[in-house]
Amino acid sequence: MKPFKAFRIQVSDGKVSAGIESITLNDLSPGDVLIKSVYSSINYKDALAATGSGQILKKPCLVGGIDVAGYVETSSSPRFHRGDQVLVCGAGLSETCDGGFSEFVRVPAEKVIAVPEGLSLFEVMAMGTAGFTAALAVHQLQLNGQRPEWGAILVTGASGGVGSYAIDILSALGYQVVASTSRLQNTAYLESLGASKVLSSDTLSIGNAPLEKGLWGGAVDSVGGELLCGLTRTVKPMGNIAVIGLAGGIKLETTVLPFILRGINLLGINSVSCAHELKVTIWQRLATDFRPTHIDKIVTAEITMNQLADSFDAYIQGRHSGRTVLRIAD
Ligand SMILES: NC(=O)c1ccc[n+]([C@@H]2O[C@H](COP(=O)([O-])OP(=O)(O)OC[C@H]3O[C@@H](n4cnc5c(N)ncnc54)[C@H](OP(=O)(O)O)[C@@H]3O)[C@@H](O)[C@H]2O)c1
Repeated sequence: MKPFKAFRIQVSDGKVSAGIESITLNDLSPGDVLIKSVYSSINYKDALAATGSGQILKKPCLVGGIDVAGYVETSSSPRFHRGDQVLVCGAGLSETCDGGFSEFVRVPAEKVIAVPEGLSLFEVMAMGTAGFTAALAVHQLQLNGQRPEWGAILVTGASGGVGSYAIDILSALGYQVVASTSRLQNTAYLESLGASKVLSSDTLSIGNAPLEKGLWGGAVDSVGGELLCGLTRTVKPMGNIAVIGLAGGIKLETTVLPFILRGINLLGINSVSCAHELKVTIWQRLATDFRPTHIDKIVTAEITMNQLADSFDAYIQGRHSGRTVLRIAD
């Protein structure tokens, strides 16, 4: 096979460099399924990896991109055949093996998921890890008994990929959704996804006392830090908080009181290492009862590989909204 294009990230002496290179199959990490990529997408984690703002790569050099969708080119696994439409999301791509910003991606079959009936390659990458994670969070809220009548779900980091899909999915399921954002200029966008109210994250009434007035039935949090701490004080009795992200910090300082006096729950969400069967279930739900209804609004940009390098800073600086899809082949 001829050389092909891939966006590679190198870490040397603590410094990160990244760019498009011409590589061959011999350069790719091993696996029994070779995928001809059609789409990938950008997630916050990709921006951390490519800019060096976070230590994502567990190896000195890897192809970037935690998501990919395309056609099976070759497979030595009986589960997949040439021409199958497949996706890989949150499976260690760009962390422990070469990732999705490449014309070809090779992975072990256990990382690969057949694209569910009813979804296109574009749609699965429009969702990507962000949509999957939002759906996993809603699934876990439901498993833990969260009911619409318990009160509104607060979605933080609302303008981002996870936040946007969480609003879309929850509102379609009948939950009242309140969006928390650092950018009130995105109010019309967030309302168009289904938020009934949009609040500034700077002025949320989260107080400082171990228990403040209960305001939210539950929460989906992709910000972490101070904001998550405030949520533990302001979620109503028995409410669930899906803990997803760290865009606002990794510290979580709280007390035991919300847990033992209100029975609130923190639900840890991990899109990478959750069981393969659960991943298949979540993708099935994304094709059926969780199917987002506003993908066209949430995808705010479609780019090509040449535009990748310039896309990451906006994520790190919290200037990006919605999702960017990377078109790798027609
Ligand atoms: N646990 C998992 O498996 C998993 C999976 C996917 C993502 N994540 C994490 O979830 C978070 C969101 O991911 P994403 O892909 O949705 O990212 P994203 O598209 O970049 O969205 C993040 C959003 O968070 C808000 N934000 C950004 N910087 C902030 C800051 N310094 N302080 C407070 N808010 C800030 C912004 O929303 P507003 O402007 O509306 O405030 C931004 O749009 C990231 O931390 C990511 O690493 C975790």
